[in-house]
Amino acid sequence: MSDATAVRTAAAGVIDPELELALGVVGMIGDVAVAGSQATVTLALPIAAWPGADALQAAVTGAVEALDGIDAVEVGRRTMSEDERLNLRTTLRLLMSGEDDGHGHSHGGDEPRFLATSSTTRVLGISSGKGGVGKSSVTVNLAIALAQAGKRVGVLDADVYGFSIPKMLGPEHDPIILGDTVIPTAVHGVRCLSMGFFVPDEQPVIWRGPMLHKAIEQFVTEAWWGEPDFLLIDMPPGTGDVALTLSEVLPRVEIYVVTTPQPAAERVAQRSAWAARKMKLAVRGVIENMSWFVGDDGRRYELFGAGGGEQLAGQLGVPLLGQVPLVPALREGGDAGEPITVSDPASPASMAFAAVAEKIIAQGPARVYRQELKIG
Ligand SMILES: Nc1ncnc2c1ncn2[C@@H]1O[C@H](COP(=O)(O)OP(=O)(O)OP(=O)(O)O)[C@@H](O)[C@H]1O
Ligand SMILES: [Mg+2]
Repeated sequence: MSDATAVRTAAAGVIDPELELALGVVGMIGDVAVAGSQATVTLALPIAAWPGADALQAAVTGAVEALDGIDAVEVGRRTMSEDERLNLRTTLRLLMSGEDDGHGHSHGGDEPRFLATSSTTRVLGISSGKGGVGKSSVTVNLAIALAQAGKRVGVLDADVYGFSIPKMLGPEHDPIILGDTVIPTAVHGVRCLSMGFFVPDEQPVIWRGPMLHKAIEQFVTEAWWGEPDFLLIDMPPGTGDVALTLSEVLPRVEIYVVTTPQPAAERVAQRSAWAARKMKLAVRGVIENMSWFVGDDGRRYELFGAGGGEQLAGQLGVPLLGQVPLVPALREGGDAGEPITVSDPASPASMAFAAVAEKIIAQGPARVYRQELKIG
């Protein structure tokens, strides 16, 4: 026999995929009733259009049905009241904060837990010297490869002018905003946040330095990332403001440099790596993209030359973690919001990303963390 308490406990243990928290923790179980072998559970959704509500309903049904003495389960839903939403927001803020980051940093109140020195979250900054080398494509596919390897992964689009992450990942909905807390959108097993969600399509984004800093800081400190294993950051091309901001907001960021194989690209990439080092950011590896194209004849064509990745890695004294071939399906996948690592995991490009992911996991976090950054 199962009573209402047993039913509530079973339902409360179901994990909401959007928040990655148990329904009981986030107050999403409303009324529960049991009459004989019939159970009724009401889900309290934070917003009416809560993503994945159908799947959640099914999961709760399954969890309750599995109880002894329950034959039939009815799961209804309603939207949270203002108070309930406020409680949820408070819960998230509490879970987010709590610890000092050990850097003496204060970002104005609650500090996300994943910024704490004790946190196991690794922050990977995907950077390049020049544009168009495939940073965003690498960010997205590497993120998915890490998720496919069983890791919890977030993607933060720090390219606030040239954001492309939403288009590439193709999420079904925008991030949800609960008061002052943003919930990154879950898609293809990763969670993402981008300025692209917050500005209208046609409108050019003009940020002055402090606004840019603030925008990125908010994406880090006022978003519910939970405690991911990896937070990947798609950095804008070049050596500018954003790297500086990241070095302040996310001092533990590890830099991975994307380059194309030609020597000229390698020199530009080197400049950005040096700039990163100047900011005491740990450069951890090089990823060469568009390394070759395999023709119908099965031959490799090195369209952009060869050796750039190897050379750059050598100069920086870091490993070349992989070479991603040029495959039209990768671009098509990016345009369609269906990354190649999702649509065709067996593609040589997907396998290259999987191999890079494995190496990044294997090499572990950077051991030496930078000293406090002094400016001015
Ligand atoms: N390995 C690849 N094979 C085929 N197409 C690729 C590959 N890598 C990237 N592309 C394509 O090249 C273009 C540029 O890639 P992407 O947008 O990822 O570069 P980026 O470095 O982020 O550029 P930006 O500096 O503009 O942000 C995109 O159309 C992308 O789909
Ligand atoms: Mg980009």
